[in-house]
Amino acid sequence: MHLLSLGVVFGLAASALTAAVPHSHIVHEKRDATVAKKWVKREKLPADTRLPMRVGLKQRNLHRGHDLLMDVSHPESPNYSKHWNSEEVVEMFAPEQSTVDTVRTWLIDSGIDASRITHSDNKGWLAFDATTEEAETLLLTEYHLYGHVDGHMTPACESYHVPKYIQEHLDYITPGIRLLAPNKRRSKRTFRAKNGFAPLLSKAMSGVLAQTSIDDLSICDQLITPACIRALYGIPEVPEYPNNQPRSDNSLGIFEDGDYYAQEDLDLFFTNQTRGIPAGTHPVPAFIDGAQAPVPVWEAGGESSLDFELAIPLLYPQTVTLYQTDDLYNTFSKYPPGLFNNFLDAIDGSYCTYSAFGETGNDRMPQLAPSSRRVKQLIFSEPLSIQPTPIPLVFKASYSVVFTNQQRQCNEFMKLGLQGHSFIYASGDLGVSGGGPNENPIDGCLGPYGSIFTPGWPVNCPYITVVGATKIYPNHTVYDPESAVVDPLFDPWSIPYSSGGGFSNIYPRPSYQRDAVQNYFGRHDPGYKYYRGNDSFGANGGRYNRLGRGYPDVAANGDNIANFIGGYFTKNGGTSASTPIFASIINRINEQRLNAGKKVLGFLNPALYNNPGMLNDITNGSNPGCGTEGFRAVGGWDPVTGLGTPNYPKMVKYFMGLP
Ligand SMILES: *[C@@H]1O[C@H](CO)[C@@H](O)[C@H](O)[C@H]1NC(C)=O
Ligand SMILES: *[C@@H]1O[C@H](CO)[C@@H](O)[C@H](O)[C@H]1NC(C)=O
Ligand SMILES: *[C@@H]1O[C@H](CO)[C@@H](O)[C@H](O)[C@H]1NC(C)=O
Ligand SMILES: *[C@@H]1O[C@H](CO)[C@@H](O)[C@H](O)[C@H]1NC(C)=O
Ligand SMILES: *[C@@H]1O[C@H](CO)[C@@H](O)[C@H](O)[C@H]1NC(C)=O
Repeated sequence: MHLLSLGVVFGLAASALTAAVPHSHIVHEKRDATVAKKWVKREKLPADTRLPMRVGLKQRNLHRGHDLLMDVSHPESPNYSKHWNSEEVVEMFAPEQSTVDTVRTWLIDSGIDASRITHSDNKGWLAFDATTEEAETLLLTEYHLYGHVDGHMTPACESYHVPKYIQEHLDYITPGIRLLAPNKRRSKRTFRAKNGFAPLLSKAMSGVLAQTSIDDLSICDQLITPACIRALYGIPEVPEYPNNQPRSDNSLGIFEDGDYYAQEDLDLFFTNQTRGIPAGTHPVPAFIDGAQAPVPVWEAGGESSLDFELAIPLLYPQTVTLYQTDDLYNTFSKYPPGLFNNFLDAIDGSYCTYSAFGETGNDRMPQLAPSSRRVKQLIFSEPLSIQPTPIPLVFKASYSVVFTNQQRQCNEFMKLGLQGHSFIYASGDLGVSGGGPNENPIDGCLGPYGSIFTPGWPVNCPYITVVGATKIYPNHTVYDPESAVVDPLFDPWSIPYSSGGGFSNIYPRPSYQRDAVQNYFGRHDPGYKYYRGNDSFGANGGRYNRLGRGYPDVAANGDNIANFIGGYFTKNGGTSASTPIFASIINRINEQRLNAGKKVLGFLNPALYNNPGMLNDITNGSNPGCGTEGFRAVGGWDPVTGLGTPNYPKMVKYFMGLP
């Protein structure tokens, strides 16, 4: 019918498409030209390039999600910790059958054979592969290759169209208008003797050599070791479960993409800074899509080493499970061959039966997500089988970070919280700024004058637990209060570093933090002009959204962390460090709850805000950015260190007292 003729007419003259869209169709999404600053539109994709198309269907009941999540995670709810299973979640939010049918029929009528269309296990997506020509005809658009300043490539269009009657059934279609930003490692936080900072480093390290033993706490103002962390937060060295036998159904999941650990580094660290962790101890592998780890020591990456060298000593003999993906960069930089190898597999974790380009997803594991740009530090704490089969629901979340429909992504976190997963993310290392092309806190700000604070993503989503960073200043001890981390340029890092924090432009303040944030504004005027809701973004010179979800939720130490990387002993830092510390603590508490016949903690925030006394309030420091001092850490919750750092004994007592 008409779609066919459209294909003929417009397929031939693609550039005329937008001018001649028929009345039956409507623009579904159009990219705001200003967001593409760092991208160059390049050649048109060849007609026969094959695209992995994903159609995100409108789901049901999402408006109920918040209340349903609070029902199982608010400590005063009679249903506390009564998490849902995945079938219940799928059932609650699955699109209407009529939605699935309508969209599928549209695709089939447009020439996509039914046998090519897969409905995802979670019911939210229809998937098919299409040539660029087919996709352009279907969506009345034109696909180009876009090159990022960093050399990454991604296919995208400027806008696309769907029949009017389809629009209400869709969230969005990919590849579409979104430009997949590169997955930038934060290795700037990492110093290596070999990368040009050796003099600075060795100066910084000279104090370390005075470490008398692994229990030496006198050096914690210069070097944070596992002993310092245990002393700071009151974490016993010997785990509190019977016979030291860790449970097989509880493991801390750590997500790494694009950098890899070396066993040699872990072994050096265990020997140097721990007692009783045998050389060879390693994370349980749950590798995605052919990713491989460990790597030879000369290829080791700072993020991976940091995560494991923090988490394993705090948890051992509990296990850490490594979800390792390949590097996005490699996926997208090879054009045209292999352009979509991992992209294809990056989808949703549920395309079990989906085949294309000679690859078939063979179960839940392989099709996982290449994580995000800001969040490579996806750390989650959850009960999971060590067999890497039954979980990866968790990665559904991470993939959508890539495709950046933020609302849809955030809803995935909500669903995972319903199922008892705890997601713990780093708040970012650039204070109130988002980091520009050079991750520079000066150019990473919003508005015409770069004066508006940039909330991070996904840490603005209210359904994850966000961890900021603290430090011990020189000549302070582990028994003194910590401060919010502020490291100016070259002190000792190559870029300024402060704890990410602020207020979302997208998500309103969630109920669980309403009192805490109101109290903050009531008692501590941050001193900046603000706007109220993103509809008035930047109004009156405002720098932040007074009504938005405030982050971080908590904090932990994230500076001067002892770390072996690439065979070198060094200091590392970042909210990438504070996050595994907090996550390890939650995993230890989950272990005790499971041993006591209770359920895991799941989504943490309502309980954290309900009992802030189990966190050490941080009241010194700030998080500079955008040419300002940022916010200040003050008594009570603040957008620098959240509620504060963990007090492990108090947290155990409280959480073990909950049903
Ligand atoms: C607790 O869960 C039950 C079903 O599991 C539900 O009927 C009830 O409404 C829930 N309670 C609250 C307060 O929502
Ligand atoms: C750990 O290794 C560093 C670097 O080799 C060394 O300076 C330090 O003394 C070691 N610490 C212990 C407790 O062995
Ligand atoms: C720390 O204390 C030592 C010894 O009292 C002193 O020399 C040094 O200047 C102090 N450092 C700072 C940063 O206050
Ligand atoms: C907030 O509003 C500004 C200005 O209208 C807009 O550019 C930006 O995309 C909006 N952000 C969100 C998250 O809606
Ligand atoms: C408070 O933070 C500032 C930096 O923001 C630091 O210089 C000072 O030493 C800190 N005070 C304490 C008591 O830690």
